[in-house]
Amino acid sequence: MRTIDWNNENSTIVMIDQTLLPVEYKVIECDNIASLTEAISSLRVRGAPALGAAGGFGIALAATLSSASYMEKLLDELRRIGNVIKATRPTAVNLAWGVDRVLDAARDAYDTDSIQSIVLAEAKAIANEDVELNKRLGAHGAALLEDGDTVMTHCNAGRMACVDWGTALGVVRSAIEAGKEIKVIACETRPLNQGGRITAWELMEDSIPVTLITDSMSAHVMQQGMVDSVIVGADCITQDAVFNKIGTYTHSIVAKEHEIPFYVAAPVSTFDFERMEDQVEIEQRDADELRYIANCQIAPLDVPVYNPAFDATPMENVTAVITENGIFRPPFLLDEVRIAQ
Ligand code: MRU
Repeated sequence: MRTIDWNNENSTIVMIDQTLLPVEYKVIECDNIASLTEAISSLRVRGAPALGAAGGFGIALAATLSSASYMEKLLDELRRIGNVIKATRPTAVNLAWGVDRVLDAARDAYDTDSIQSIVLAEAKAIANEDVELNKRLGAHGAALLEDGDTVMTHCNAGRMACVDWGTALGVVRSAIEAGKEIKVIACETRPLNQGGRITAWELMEDSIPVTLITDSMSAHVMQQGMVDSVIVGADCITQDAVFNKIGTYTHSIVAKEHEIPFYVAAPVSTFDFERMEDQVEIEQRDADELRYIANCQIAPLDVPVYNPAFDATPMENVTAVITENGIFRPPFLLDEVRIAQ
């Protein structure tokens, strides 16, 4: 199934619970907004494009559950709930983008029933488009890879971070589909190990060769000539920086030092050229993510912890950004990205 979807029978949101992977594959259902915000905050659903779909479906769920009897009341309620959903993860722009796109579509409504059907149709459109645009993005990016290449990636920018196919791993999948042999080196991605738990799992499910390393091994593998390119996803792309999972910046510096191409794969919806790096809020996560692994204590319980979820890679470290509209080498203007096909 898709990473996240709408269940027409029950009017609920269904998703693969990514916190349980790879030990357990479990599909969970969110039938109220509290369960959705809990799922987003605890990373049951995660990754920028999947969060875009979660935001859209969240508004559709709120509209379905509402008992508001007139349009303005329902729209106010949806805007308020939209703000609650957006606040769960502040760095990934797709979450707010998904909420706002669905709320904007509701402007065409003429009564409460039409609001419900319009927001659901728009949320489903976001999910369907995500799959289609990841395929286009993948086809553009595949041209950058040579037969026999090894790609290093960080965190999970695969099908589990999207509705399907993936961005960074979508490029790998498209290159393989085009007949190239591609191997992947997956960085573990401490503290929540999305690389070890999710990237390694989803690539193995598709029989794509993958080798897992710890984050601190990336300089070594690049120095040893084991990496032909680095491809990562993004949570927010400003004019001057790419925000992605903590550790991405380190890999970009090492790639530059070793003259290895450093690619970012992301849909146009992840771009936010109205802001500069210093205007983006980096999500801070719970200290216990560093004090425990799988309920096992690994640090003093009272040790002070700094746990930012993302870092900012300066645009000058980025060789190119791969989008559904093509490949863009910095410096580029957002208009060029938007109008290209
Ligand atoms: O905290 P997460 O797991 O949501 O972080 C995800 C990432 O950093 C991904 O690389 C990013 O969202 C791009 S997903 C295509």
